[in-house]
Amino acid sequence: MCGIVGYIGKANAPKVLINGLRRLEYRGYDSAGLAVLDDDQILVAKSAGKVSVLNDRARTQWPQELFNRVTTGIAHTRWATHGPPTEVNAHPHLDKSGDIALVHNGIIENYRSLRARLEGKGHHFFSETDTEVLAHLIGECDKGDLFQAVCDALHQVEGAFGIAVLSAQEPDRIITARRGSPIVIGVGDGESIIASDACAILAHTQRVIYLDDNDIAIVTADSVDIRDLNNVPVTREIAELGMDAAATEKGGYDHFMLKEIHEQPEALANAIRGRLDHDVGSSVLAGMGTSPRELAELTRVVMIGCGTSLHAGLVGEYAFEDLADIHAEVQQAAEFRYRNPIIGNCDLVVAISQSGETADTLAAVREANQKGAFVMSLCNVVGSTIARETGRGVYLHAGPEISVASTKAFTCQVAVLLMMALKLGRGRRYSREDGIKLAREIGSIPDLVSKVILQNDLIAKIAADYTKNEHAFFIGRGPMYPVALEGALKLKEISYIHAEGYHAAELKHGPIALLEKGTPVIALACDVPGKDKTLGNVEECRARGARILGIVTEGDHETAECMDDFITIPRCHPLVATIPAVVALQLFSYHVARLRGCEIDQPRNLAKSVTVE
Ligand code: G6P
Repeated sequence: MCGIVGYIGKANAPKVLINGLRRLEYRGYDSAGLAVLDDDQILVAKSAGKVSVLNDRARTQWPQELFNRVTTGIAHTRWATHGPPTEVNAHPHLDKSGDIALVHNGIIENYRSLRARLEGKGHHFFSETDTEVLAHLIGECDKGDLFQAVCDALHQVEGAFGIAVLSAQEPDRIITARRGSPIVIGVGDGESIIASDACAILAHTQRVIYLDDNDIAIVTADSVDIRDLNNVPVTREIAELGMDAAATEKGGYDHFMLKEIHEQPEALANAIRGRLDHDVGSSVLAGMGTSPRELAELTRVVMIGCGTSLHAGLVGEYAFEDLADIHAEVQQAAEFRYRNPIIGNCDLVVAISQSGETADTLAAVREANQKGAFVMSLCNVVGSTIARETGRGVYLHAGPEISVASTKAFTCQVAVLLMMALKLGRGRRYSREDGIKLAREIGSIPDLVSKVILQNDLIAKIAADYTKNEHAFFIGRGPMYPVALEGALKLKEISYIHAEGYHAAELKHGPIALLEKGTPVIALACDVPGKDKTLGNVEECRARGARILGIVTEGDHETAECMDDFITIPRCHPLVATIPAVVALQLFSYHVARLRGCEIDQPRNLAKSVTVE
C-alpha cells in the first residue's frame, strides 16, 4: 500500500527519495510524487503510474543543477482510496499557501466535515483526497511553529495516519507522526531518513527508531526529537535493523516471487532452527512466553489474520486439534472486532501477519487484548507494530518478502504453527514417541520443499497447458483444504484467472455447475487421510469434462494415473505435507502467470501490506 520516504541531510534528495520509493514499490501503488525544498521554496513533481514515470517527470520538470543542490524532501507512492490514481490526487499535497507539503498513509475518516469547514473559510481543494484536507488544516493551524501546527491539526483528525510534513518556513526539519500507520526513522551520520517501511532506509543506515501511535517527531539532519501530541517528550530506543540490503534484490531471478519460492528451503531452515527439541519430541518457542502451566490451562486457540496468513491459520486449526486436542478456530481479522468475539483469559489468540502492519489484524489484536486473552503474534517483519503490540510472539525469520503474493511467509507460518501445536500437544495428549517422530518430520521440511523445487522445469511445462482458461477450481480435504484455498488465491492474484478453492466435497453443492470441457480442476490428492474420497470427487469432475491436475505423493502411481497431469510431493506426515504441496501450487501459479505475460511481483490493484480497513 502507500509508501512514505522523507530525507534531510547532505545527499542529493531527489535521488535518495526516488531510490527509496523504488524500494517501496513492492508494496503496491498506482501513483507517486515528491516535494523538495529549494531556496526556501517547495517544488513538487507528481505522476500517475510507476516511480520510473515520476523520475522522468522530475528530470524534465526541474533543471539538472537542482538535483545536485537540494538535500531535503518528502516522497510518496499512493494506493488509491479517495479518488482515482491520477496526478492531481497523488501526494504530496500542499496547503493553501503552497508553503507546506504533506505525504500521508492511512485514511482521515472525518475529512468531509473538515473539508466543508475549511471551504467555509475560503480554502479551495484541487484533489478528491482526504490528505489534501489535512495539508490545508495544518496550514490553517500554522501560527509560525510547524510542530505545533501539526499537533493541533492531528488533534482534530479521526482515522489513521503516518505522515511527513515539510515547510518552506522551517527548512531545517521534517515533522513526522503516526497513528495506525507505521513510521520508521533512520538515524544516519549527518542525515535522517523517514519511511513507512525499513526497506527504504537500508541503503543508508541500520540504526532506526520506530514511532509508536500518537508519537510526533521533529527530524533534522542531526537529531530526532520525539514527543506525544500534547508536546510531552517521549523516549524511543534506537534499534538495529539487522537486515541485509542484498535480501531485497532479485539476485538473478526474473521475479521476486520466483526468488522467494526458491528461498523457501533456507527460510524454513531459519524458521525451524533451534526450535525443535528432538530428545523430548517437542519444540522450544521462547517467544511465546508461556509456562507449561499456562499452556495446560488454555482451552482454545483462536487464530486471526487476512489473506494468505488466514489460510496458514486454517492449516493451524487442523494441527492444534489433531496434535493438541485443543479447540482451535480461525477468524477473519476484519470481522473480529465487529462481531463481539467470545474471548477470555483461557484463550490463546495468535495474530498471524507477514508484515505485522495489516490494519484489520492490528485492530483484532487490540480487541483481543481488551478482552483479556493471552495474545501472541506470528510475524515476519521484526519490530512491526503487531509484533510490538503483542509483546510476545514468534518471528518467522523468513527474510524480506518483496513479492506481493506471499510464498515463503506462508510456508514458514505453517511450520511455526506446527511447532506451536507440537508444543501444546506434548503438554497434553501427544506422546514422547510421537513427538520425536513429528519433530523429525518438521526438521526435514526444508529438504521436502527442495525436492518440489527441483521439479520447477516440469511444472513450467505443465503450466503451459493451463494458460488459456479463464476459470479454475482447486479442491482438497482436511489440511489440504486450506492448501486448495491458498493455491486458488495464488493463481488468481498473479495470473488474473478466476480461481476458486473448495472443499472437495463442497464442489458438488454448486460450483460443479460451472465445469465444462477442459475446465481445470487442481486436486490435492496426496496420500493422506481422505485421499480416496477426494479421488471420488475427482471422478465427478472428470465425468463433466474437467481437466485434472493432481498433486500426488511420490510413488503413488495408482493416484497419478487418475490425473491428466500430476506433480509429486515426497511422502510425509499429512500436516507436514501441506508445505511441499503449497510450494507445488506456488510454482504452478507463477509459471501460468509468467506465460500469460502478467506483472507478477506487483499484480494490479493489490498491495503487500494493507494498512486500511
Ligand atoms: C495483502 C497481501 C497478502 C497478505 C495479506 C495479509 O492482501 O497481498 O499477500 O497475505 O495482505 O498480510 P499480512 O502482512 O498481515 O500477512
